[in-house]
Amino acid sequence: MKILAIETSCDETSIALLECRGGLKSPKFKVLKNIVSSQIPIHRPFGGVVPNLAKREHIKNLPLVLRQVFKSKVPGRAGKSQKLKVDYIAVTVGPGLEPALWTGINFAEALANKLKKLLIGVNHMEGHLYSNWLPLKQQKTTDKRQQTTIKFPAIALIVSGGHTILLHMTSITKWTKLGETLDDAAGEAFDKVARMLNLPYPGGPEIQKLAAKGNPKAIKFPRPMLNKPGYEFSFSGLKTSVLYYLRDHQSLRPTTYDLRPDIAASFQQAVVDVLIKKTVRAAKEYKAKSILLCGGVSANKALRETLRTTAYELRTNFIVPDFEFNTDNAAMIAAAAYINLLQKNKKRLKIEAQGNLNLGDQDTN
Ligand code: KG4
Ligand code: ZN
Repeated sequence: MKILAIETSCDETSIALLECRGGLKSPKFKVLKNIVSSQIPIHRPFGGVVPNLAKREHIKNLPLVLRQVFKSKVPGRAGKSQKLKVDYIAVTVGPGLEPALWTGINFAEALANKLKKLLIGVNHMEGHLYSNWLPLKQQKTTDKRQQTTIKFPAIALIVSGGHTILLHMTSITKWTKLGETLDDAAGEAFDKVARMLNLPYPGGPEIQKLAAKGNPKAIKFPRPMLNKPGYEFSFSGLKTSVLYYLRDHQSLRPTTYDLRPDIAASFQQAVVDVLIKKTVRAAKEYKAKSILLCGGVSANKALRETLRTTAYELRTNFIVPDFEFNTDNAAMIAAAAYINLLQKNKKRLKIEAQGNLNLGDQDTN
């Protein structure tokens, strides 16, 4: 079955074409195309995503990206370009910026009407979750810590710009939410701290770069909620601590500038410590056989490598998607649409922008 998916929830215009097969026990995906057109340079001067600019850019980019999907060659089929042959169309309906979501929905609806195909609405957070089922390109067979099999029960940590969610999964379609953030999401904290350090948007990759030059033990930033029972997260206090630290060291200017690598490294370490400690605690409590990591912040090297080693020591399989599928992309939306189609009892999502759509507990098959 071929699924064409469209993702426009934030600042990436993405369309993917996936070949999907297999049942819920072992769904298999071949990513024929996954084109992502990033708007980062357009939003950068504003220090964050401007919804109406995002909308305008999506409207402009969607037809161009679609043409790219079907014009360019498909791997393994030398010389042949892809015909517009798909079985289903999928589109992100939320959560995200509503003006941006609507552009993808309107485009997908028109395409589905034209091709006379069923349109499937997808929850963006399920997309991130199911990115863990996408095939891995660079399988490091020499790395003993590299695992590809997802066994249940599993603990999934979804960390993006808008969400920080910890799930306990007993199967691919059954989970309970153990906790989420009470305030800022992990990615949001990266972005806000980056802004304080005069780094461009999006802040995550910039902090990571700067942190590589700093000492993660230099400054003792708080680890919010670390020793509290439960699985809730909170990052706004940590962000405020960075702000106070900067304020208290203003007198050291222009030396403040030189402190930035240590601030970035110490801040990143605080976020990583909290995320990993809670994930490991959940993995132990629920006797998890796998730990899944996904969402834009899963691109963070310190986070993925520390969690990979920790999971290996726990004898728990560790799965994290290839970098291409960490930040927003339509391949994960196609994967989620397929897994949704396989669930006969799952209620279909309304085809309309749902900015605050959440990821509740789920128990379907
Ligand atoms: O999943 P995503 O692409 O979009 C949302 O659904 O929100 O996540 C974007 C977030 C941004 O906050 C960005 O700063 C963060 O992911 N991010 C990172 C890294 N790459 C992206 N955070 C930390 N380290 C990174 N390398
Ligand atoms: Zn996302």
